[in-house]
Order: sequence, then C-alpha cells, then structure tokens
Amino acid sequence: MALLEIHKFDDPVLRQKAKPVKRVGAAIRKTLKDMSEAMYEAKGIGLAAPQVGLDRAMIVVDVGEGLLELVNPKIVSSEGSATAAEGCLSLPGMWGEVPRAEKVKVEALDANGHRTWIEGEGMLARALQHEIDHLYGILFIDKATSITIEEDEDGEDGAEGEEPETAEGQGATPKAAGGETRKGPEGEGQCE
Ligand code: NI
Repeated sequence: MALLEIHKFDDPVLRQKAKPVKRVGAAIRKTLKDMSEAMYEAKGIGLAAPQVGLDRAMIVVDVGEGLLELVNPKIVSSEGSATAAEGCLSLPGMWGEVPRAEKVKVEALDANGHRTWIEGEGMLARALQHEIDHLYGILFIDKATSITIEEDEDGEDGAEGEEPETAEGQGATPKAAGGETRKGPEGEGQCE
C-alpha cells in the first residue's frame, strides 16, 4: 500500500480547517494507522490529517513515549509557557522558535471512539499543540518569534536517498528539535 503523501509549503490544504469526525469506525482507524505509518516513515513525531490532504480532525503523535491516535482533539487546559525550536514535516528545511504552553491537557476520542484525556508537558505538550494547530490551518511559522531557513544551495542532487532526519533533525540548529520533527539524540550527535 502506498504511503500517504505529506503536503507541503503553500499547499492550500494546510490552511483548511478540519471538520470534526462524527463516528470513529474502521475507516477512521485505518486512516490513523496510515497516518502513523507516514509519520514514522518521515521520521516525524507528529502528523495531522490536513498534512496528508484529509479534511478531518485527527492527529497522531509519538514523541518516544508511545503512539497517540487522537480524534477531535481539543486543548482543555494549559499552563506555563516555553519557547523552543520547532519544525514541521510540511515545511522541510524550516525552523522556528515557537512560544507554547508548557503543559497542556487534551480531550479527544481514541481509535475506539472512547473519550480520553492526555496530559503532556515538554516535548509532548509542544507536539500536541503543534498538531492541533494544524487542524485549524495554523502552521508554526504563524507563531514563531524567529524563523531559520536551511539553505540547500550547493546541489544536494545526490542526497535524495538520505534520511530526512539529516536535513530536518540536526542540520539547521544545534538545539533539539521540537514540534513535529524528531528530536535528535539527547546529548550526542549535536554537532556534525
Ligand atoms: Ni507540522
């Protein structure tokens, strides 16, 4: 089965507001599975349905603490603030310092349609906020206080088969990446 394609940059689907899912059934479960497959393949830590061209309020997140598949997620409370570097699978080569709440509580339906609450802080809180923003057509560049664009000038022709992590995870910034791109190994591999 072909992987879901991740839409990028100024693709209008990224700016659409996702519609709530009315019923969580087999089709939704299959889509969530396809989304997580696309996320893992892209070495991401989160993916929202609009990024794969789907107009539904669904996200998947895995910051290394297990996969979360969330339907109709909403932030019901938040606390504190923290600014950190963030990237997005839909905006490869771009980074931004993004202020976010430090802790959030999210209410959603799980893949079985049961109501669930997720409390996250740090990287998980950041990923949840980033992905839920996607459902409202909001990208991290809308909130970033500074943006870094990784120049790809000298013919990366031969680099097509490289792991995206090289470009997204560790190239542009020495900081651990947040948001949707996978965090680099803590305390190692920070410099090239
Ligand atoms: Ni994103």
